[in-house]
Amino acid sequence: MVHTVHGPAANALASLTPHQLDFLKKLPKAELHAHLNGSIPFPILQQLAQERETSLAHADEISNVPEIVRAGLEKLKAGVVLDQLHDFFDLFPAIYALTSNPAALARATRGVLEHFLEEQDGCPQAAYIELRSIPRETPEMTRRKYIETVLDEIERYPPERAAYIVALDRRMESRFAAECVQHAIELKNAGRRIVGIDLCGDPTAGNITEFAQYFRQAKEAGLGLTLHIAEVKECPPTETLQLLSFKPDRLGHATFLDDEAKRIVHTDEMCIEICLSSNLLCKTVPTLDVHHIRYYLSHNHPIAICTDDILPFRNSLVGEYALLMATPPLGLGLEEAEIEKIAKMGMNSRFR
Ligand code: IMP
Ligand code: ZN
Repeated sequence: MVHTVHGPAANALASLTPHQLDFLKKLPKAELHAHLNGSIPFPILQQLAQERETSLAHADEISNVPEIVRAGLEKLKAGVVLDQLHDFFDLFPAIYALTSNPAALARATRGVLEHFLEEQDGCPQAAYIELRSIPRETPEMTRRKYIETVLDEIERYPPERAAYIVALDRRMESRFAAECVQHAIELKNAGRRIVGIDLCGDPTAGNITEFAQYFRQAKEAGLGLTLHIAEVKECPPTETLQLLSFKPDRLGHATFLDDEAKRIVHTDEMCIEICLSSNLLCKTVPTLDVHHIRYYLSHNHPIAICTDDILPFRNSLVGEYALLMATPPLGLGLEEAEIEKIAKMGMNSRFR
């Protein structure tokens, strides 16, 4: 089932020569920042919605879920316009309604992994993926079951191709964050393929102080740590410094770092997960010309090019690399050798 690319990534892709496109497709690339429920190929989500509707009709249930789902699907199909940050987070209840039991979650996970790892025209989008997801408790599954369901799908691929990052939502109650990290450590110790912990969710919500102890436990257990950080202008610099004090290995976005934060990031060589389309479409960065990737490139600092959420952003990993290659203003106009180096930085920043 095909995922179609629109927007900045599509425009960049369309501007490339066949040789350039071939180069990008063949380049071994690591996808290190992809959220499971934000990365479901649209046709799979549509299928899950159809099945859900049929099963509800059979069960003769009265529920408002189909209406939320229908409205959400319409938005995603038409291409979402994000005027404010909450427009983005408001998309997830509809998606979540469709991945709320183990069978549907497994199907969604398989669809995501196939999109990134199976060959299309002779090449996969990614050589390797670290897929992240917040373990969600629903009436039909526990958080443990959620993690195991995702792991079962990830482990259908060899270790050099896929791994799981357990994500914590900033709005999560502290006890649930504790539970997620405990499962992650236990399962890792039991040989399951969990490689890291992420902190994500609405960057203006939650109190991260409570999470410090769980990040420490995760690191002590040998898990990698990546944190969404300074994603929007409103993120207080004190919070950014606090997040950096947890000694993360990688950072998501890191769009609004001040000089002090940048100094720490350089000293500790924290890899920056760069999501170009995501930043443009969420309007946290107005144009590629002023994107913070330029700063990190000019400082030869490790970065990884990532998609974030291909479902709402309608991008792809090859499309993100096309944004590096396309001539300005469609892209950054980088040379093949520079792009090859960036792809290697991504591969070198894997948690395993
Ligand atoms: P999930 O963890 O598989 O459910 O993926 C979707 C979740 O990831 C959303 O509910 C958000 O909390 C989170 N997420 C996705 N993209 C972003 C982002 O760019 N910033 C912060 N959180 C995000
Ligand atoms: Zn993200």
